[in-house]
Amino acid sequence: MQNKHEKVEKHVGWFFTFTIAAISIGGLVEITPLFFQKETTTPVESLRPYTALEMEGRDIYIREGCNNCHSQMIRPLRAETERYGHYSVAGESVWEHPFLWGSKRTGPDLARVGQRYSDDWHYAHLMDPRSVVPESNMPSYSWLAETPASNELSAKKMEIFNMLTKNRSHKDADGNPIPLYSSDDIANAGSEFKTTKSITGKNSLTEMDALIAYLQSLGHALK
Ligand code: HEC
Repeated sequence: MQNKHEKVEKHVGWFFTFTIAAISIGGLVEITPLFFQKETTTPVESLRPYTALEMEGRDIYIREGCNNCHSQMIRPLRAETERYGHYSVAGESVWEHPFLWGSKRTGPDLARVGQRYSDDWHYAHLMDPRSVVPESNMPSYSWLAETPASNELSAKKMEIFNMLTKNRSHKDADGNPIPLYSSDDIANAGSEFKTTKSITGKNSLTEMDALIAYLQSLGHALK
């Protein structure tokens, strides 16, 4: 009796076509429902937008490539939730542009690292990781304590985030979207930079301060 599979398996054109079809159907079945599930586009209730300082810190995190060694995505597995806390949910990152979920964990996941350590701990750790964790292989980022934090573009970034999150912001009682940043927030984007004291002892804020502010905000919406 002739094996019917043979016709497909020995003909590269058919084999290619059927493989693509099978993968596409499998992919669509997994992905399509997510477009229609509200919890993937609705922010969790306690989610708040980044302050100007945190937003600048996030950009430093991206620039320095921290996400190459650190994920921000806790999987719903016991070993992870016992170590890092509640697993990550979509509603926590609906305002993230770009996402920093990452996939490489040379260091621990940082999705809920906010408030776990003091600012002083982060400062010591970023200046010289081995001063607090002797076996660490994380690089030092001591120059961040020398480079001034810039808030020149903070207002502009807030406007862009308002635009990007238009359909995914919190809603008021009548169901109207509340922009992430009000016009007052945008007008005062720099005031935080004037009132916050630098951890480095300098007169004005450094990139170190911005990065630590960002780290301390991580996971605030779901503890
Ligand atoms: C080469 C890989 C690597 C890079 C790049 C890196 N880290 Fe790390 N990080 C580690 C490792 C390994 C640890 C665990 C040991 C330690 O605490 O130092 C760690 C630990 C940490 C911790 C403590 C986490 C915890 O739960 O104890 C924080 C916070 C952190 N890193 C922030 C950063 C930031 C911010 C950057 C970018 C400026 C960065 N890391 C870049 C490897 C890296």
